[in-house]
Amino acid sequence: MKKYNIVIVGGGSTFTPGFLKSFCRMKNEFPLAKLVLFDIDANRQKPIGEYGKILFKELYPTAELIYTTDIAQAYTDMDFVFMQMRVGGYEMREKDEKIPLKHGIIGQETCGPGGIAYGLRSTKEMIKAIYDIRHYAPNAWVLNYSNPAAIVAEALRREFPTDKKILNICDQPENVVRSCSRLLGCNFKDLQPVYFGLNHYGWFTNMYDKNTGEDLLPKIRELVKERGFLPQDAEQRDKSWLETYGMVQQLMADFPDYLPNTYDQYYLYPSYKAKSLNPNFTRANEVMASREKRVFAECQQVIEAGTTKDLVNIHEDAHAEFMIDVAMSIAYNLNNRFIVIIENYGAINNLPDDGMVEVVAELGANGPSPMRVGNIPTFYKGLLENQLASEKLAIDAYFEGSYQKALQSLTLNRTVNDAKIARVILDELIEANKLYWPELK
Ligand code: G6P
Ligand code: MN
Repeated sequence: MKKYNIVIVGGGSTFTPGFLKSFCRMKNEFPLAKLVLFDIDANRQKPIGEYGKILFKELYPTAELIYTTDIAQAYTDMDFVFMQMRVGGYEMREKDEKIPLKHGIIGQETCGPGGIAYGLRSTKEMIKAIYDIRHYAPNAWVLNYSNPAAIVAEALRREFPTDKKILNICDQPENVVRSCSRLLGCNFKDLQPVYFGLNHYGWFTNMYDKNTGEDLLPKIRELVKERGFLPQDAEQRDKSWLETYGMVQQLMADFPDYLPNTYDQYYLYPSYKAKSLNPNFTRANEVMASREKRVFAECQQVIEAGTTKDLVNIHEDAHAEFMIDVAMSIAYNLNNRFIVIIENYGAINNLPDDGMVEVVAELGANGPSPMRVGNIPTFYKGLLENQLASEKLAIDAYFEGSYQKALQSLTLNRTVNDAKIARVILDELIEANKLYWPELK
């Protein structure tokens, strides 16, 4: 059995330990020769790398684990690149969330002005990274889940139009499928969704039982009405995530056609959501106080003990396992189904060909084969066209260095919808991002 070489870009991420544990758990299904952690922040990555070395020595001695800040070492001979960079770290996420909120507008890492701000930061570094990768590993598959995935996908589509080995993908649709399995009391692998939208903005039109072909969406609608909606791993979730999933009940009461992605709440209830978010303690603060503390404390404990024994349990990590399943489907040409981000070309018949949309696809060695959903109804088409234009304008602003396009992008975004507020927020974002953005004139 071939053993694979994988690099995780953003090795210092709070998500990395979950990946390390999942690679250990899945070592027979997907054997690794070498796993490289790569980060530009050596200090942040070091404890995670040291923790990983102890973990691999004990649980995965047949694989080599290294951590590095050197580009050549990171990419040479790689089969897969897992991209999870966060340009500007949580410090900048906090600004993405707080600057719009100060003006009464949604503060979120991927939706609204914060997403646009983060998009312009990510675009620059993602483009540079892909050039580096193609220099050292021309045939590696790049699995990108760096955010905001919709805007990053549009940027990469324009900069690398012929590169067929870049896949943009997000775990949130699958998280919603998993939530349904909790509600229905079944295994999520037995659910076969039909989905359309943009990244972090979409709907499930059907949720089929894989064994019988029955559409379970009507049943899900009834259950959501009766019991609300919870993430599959609700017991491990912070308060804000429980509130986010809870909004699915309201979304389905107002728009019962389909089951929404949880991110739809920001576009459909922008003023309600903006009012319910705390402008002084946003999700970035919550993450720093919870996941970040927990992850680095676990690394420290293991490093001090010199062993993982009794300190680490390699339980399931949904996000990491999802990404490893994606890599396996490509590596072994399994053609399993995933919800992925692709250039539209008719997948959603009445949206533009060059939009980066999110739909179900079979995924194999030659990439995704998307499944068509036909025409979508006017309401959804209107919402998505509006957002697609906002995202495209953000990337126009990046490539053209255009203030005007950035202003249009924010103004058009449903979370803003007002040119005066858009301008005030944009000017503050420019100031906050001056180390990261291209100059906008
Ligand atoms: C989901 C989304 C990701 C996002 C993450 C944020 O998994 O699909 O795109 O990065 O949530 O989670 P956090 O816990 O950092 O707020
Ligand atoms: Mn996502």
